[in-house]
Amino acid sequence: MQEKLKMLSEQAKAELKEVKDVASLNNFKVKYLGKQGLLTEILRGMRDLPAEQRPVIGALVNQVRQDIENQTAQKQAEFDKMELEKELAKNFIDITEPAKGHEKGALHPLSKVFDLLIDSCVAMGFKVVEGPEVELDYFNFEALNIPKNHPSRDMQDTFFVTDNILLRSQTSSVQARAMQTLKPPFKIISPGRVYRNDSDATHSPVFHQMEGLVIDENISMADLKSMLTVLMRRTFGEQTQIRFRPSFFPFTEPSVEVDVTCPSCHGEGCRLCKGTGFMELLGAGIVNPKVLEENGIDSKKYRGFAFGFGVDRVAMVKNSISDIRSMFKNDIRFLKQMK
Ligand code: PHE
Repeated sequence: MQEKLKMLSEQAKAELKEVKDVASLNNFKVKYLGKQGLLTEILRGMRDLPAEQRPVIGALVNQVRQDIENQTAQKQAEFDKMELEKELAKNFIDITEPAKGHEKGALHPLSKVFDLLIDSCVAMGFKVVEGPEVELDYFNFEALNIPKNHPSRDMQDTFFVTDNILLRSQTSSVQARAMQTLKPPFKIISPGRVYRNDSDATHSPVFHQMEGLVIDENISMADLKSMLTVLMRRTFGEQTQIRFRPSFFPFTEPSVEVDVTCPSCHGEGCRLCKGTGFMELLGAGIVNPKVLEENGIDSKKYRGFAFGFGVDRVAMVKNSISDIRSMFKNDIRFLKQMK
């Protein structure tokens, strides 16, 4: 019996050496340690032994079982380790590799200019008011002293949706809406998108304007000029000068066009300003009393000034952009240059 156990132990050891995977290890376990296994068979054979030999052989059987169990556990641990290493190699993360870094986004050049303009105006006490882009003919034109079929409509190539509804051609429509809802005195700006049937390097069918309107008693051109000087200096730098040229808009009387000293040469004359030293930037004027009355404001008591300008143009001048359309293509290479 002892001999038999010894042989079994040896055989198990040899066989275990050949075990190369988990499946054969399981087979091995069943073969030696299982209920029908070889060791169990030997244990059964103990019945036939004389009583005094039983404890000796019993101890030996336990010893052999213990040995085989230890060796199997060791093998199992080896397999587990191999499995883990294989898994780790598959999902290898090199923590020493230099980081790619985060690509930082940036605001669109237009958003930046809008923020700058709006912040400057809010600091001067203006309230931001918005209005619809799909607008009634009434607010875009009629309420602003541009009657139906009047030639002054030709100043703007308008997209009509129906006879009475259009894509607003100017943020001045918000001027009319504001006068009808707010109680004077008030100071508002209305930034937003506007639409005109026009497209070339300096015109886009959709572009952006910011309109300003101040209604109060005793408003004069001097108020308009000082306010615009502050706004343009904040936008283009402290040395900026502005000048007024007589002009015409149906909703302001008198009307002016406002030029700003060229931000590139500061008035000397350069390629950007075509040698003039100035850039034409805004339309403005004293609100026509007819417009005040049409929108429910007492023109005997109140006066107002209004100004409006193309925000895209400001962004173009500030960033030396030559084609307005490049601002709406969202080509990532262009946007990266603007960062
Ligand atoms: N709305 C005018 C335009 O789009 C600009 C303007 C605004 C002129 C306010 C005077 C007063 O051309």
